[in-house]
Amino acid sequence: MQNNVRPETMERITTPALAEAFIEEQIKAVRAEVGDRKVLLALSGGVDSSVVAALLIKAIGKQLVCVHVNHGLMRKNESEGVIKLFRGEFDANLIYVDATDRFLDLLAGVSDPESKRKIIGAEFINVFAEEADKFEKNSFLAQGTIYPDILESIKQAEGKQAVKSHHNVGGLPDDIAEKFSLLEPLKLLYKDEVRVVGRALGLSSELVDRQPFPGPGLGVRCLGAITRDRLAALREADAILREEFANSGLSKTVWQYFVVIPDIKSVGVKDEGRYEGWPAIIRAVNTKDAMTATIEEIPYALLHKICARITSEVAGINRVLYDITPKPTGTIEWE
Ligand code: XMP
Repeated sequence: MQNNVRPETMERITTPALAEAFIEEQIKAVRAEVGDRKVLLALSGGVDSSVVAALLIKAIGKQLVCVHVNHGLMRKNESEGVIKLFRGEFDANLIYVDATDRFLDLLAGVSDPESKRKIIGAEFINVFAEEADKFEKNSFLAQGTIYPDILESIKQAEGKQAVKSHHNVGGLPDDIAEKFSLLEPLKLLYKDEVRVVGRALGLSSELVDRQPFPGPGLGVRCLGAITRDRLAALREADAILREEFANSGLSKTVWQYFVVIPDIKSVGVKDEGRYEGWPAIIRAVNTKDAMTATIEEIPYALLHKICARITSEVAGINRVLYDITPKPTGTIEWE
């Protein structure tokens, strides 16, 4: 069993050769530990869980059972992409759970940001626990924990308060959790090393270099009480923003960029008539550690293009705003 402290002598994984060596070492360790038992993994499609999945598939093939929960708050085509990649290219044992209605029904009418986060986090555990409950005793639960997560939990244990409660896959109920031992093959790696390992495992740069996406997904960007129509508008507007950032090369230089839609309408005009709609707020920030963030200067011509596309292509949106607030005083997300 590895402990949770990265040895000072551990070499930083910066090259494909070092990544290969790490992968070989982990494959041996995982096979020795797991034997012929099953391993369960919540596969969100983010960098960390995808790298764990790719690594474990290489080590134990179909003994790994990936569960992808679609909470209905994913970006456009995101779940489809996870299924295509892992079932198609990696031939993974992947269970897809579309829990959209469960989440959106629970969230209906809930406007407080922390209550929304708690509902999403708790329901995620409920859905995942239903899958975990099907496993036999002495199975394994794999997690994409990385070294900054370990350092963060040490800080929290020391009593430093966080501004927002960040929810990822947390604890399963005790009676289910006791069936599993934890498997955290990336827990001593920094994010840049996880990316190098991901590339060596054959994951695309589009995946390993992707921007962070919060666990509660679009739920914290569809401000106030989430409605299906406003969520659909957010998903479309976000897809346009991402497409334009990719086409202009900004996706390579901007750390995180997304759309937020508040629960307000303003008067506008369309087809020569009154058109009440929501504003789409664009956020594009650069940061090293997400503790502070600066605003990216986006060329005006690109902002005009994004505005024209969103207001003409997305039903319900009649204005586009650019948020120029650094962190502090704003946080990166609006909720
Ligand atoms: P804030 O808004 O606190 O965000 O400045 C800092 C970074 O954390 C991400 N974020 C989250 N990630 N669950 C997550 O997994 C969450 O609830 C959550 N809230 C914010 C945010 O996208 C940014 O990268």
